[in-house]
Amino acid sequence: MAVSKLIQITDLHLGEGPQSVLAGTSSAESYIMLNQLLKDYDKQAVWLPGNHDNAELMEQHLTDYPSYPVSELGNWGILTLDSSQPGTPVGHISDEELRRVDDRLNQLAGKSILVTMHHCPIALGCQWLDKQRVNNPNSLYDLLASHNDVKLVVTGHVHQQYDGLWGDLPLYTTPSSCIQFKQHSKDFAISDQPPGYRWFDLGSNGTVRTGVEFIRNFDQHPDTDNAGY
Ligand SMILES: [Fe+2]
Repeated sequence: MAVSKLIQITDLHLGEGPQSVLAGTSSAESYIMLNQLLKDYDKQAVWLPGNHDNAELMEQHLTDYPSYPVSELGNWGILTLDSSQPGTPVGHISDEELRRVDDRLNQLAGKSILVTMHHCPIALGCQWLDKQRVNNPNSLYDLLASHNDVKLVVTGHVHQQYDGLWGDLPLYTTPSSCIQFKQHSKDFAISDQPPGYRWFDLGSNGTVRTGVEFIRNFDQHPDTDNAGY
């Protein structure tokens, strides 16, 4: 069985240059730097905006990585969704986005489908962060669950690992490539885990293997007394 390999890198919070530490400026410079990094590693990439991003600037400056809401990887279709809204960290799926998702799911008929968006649709047990989850998840859930080919949903934003279910759909969230949030914390809290990412082995028969890795021997430590970011 053929296996397609995919890595999810999320919540980059890049600053304006390689020396920046936890900046998340959403500036042209940060996207130009990201474009160059991706080029240096010579990988194919698809991206979607998060709540800190300026999607227009991303489109403009990720010059070698045009935005593809639908892409194909072996026998798989990758569908990216925009769950961000301007001016708030809370996720939302607009009616327009919902209609686009329906069209794109039909476009990918016959493929196994991985759906990905920035915000998590369910509560993970961090009260402060759970308030920022997608605030209207039900219509999206019904739509995704009605397509048998949707195999999993993958998100970021929560800066922590979760492997579980959204109703009947397998749901995975992923640590940030920057700082991590403390799991099961009522109020904002940072953990001292290093940057992480998630890997997927997507089998041509629709099977999924996935796991999270943290960077080893990372010598920077976040200020875990911080009350915000
Ligand atoms: Fe986020």
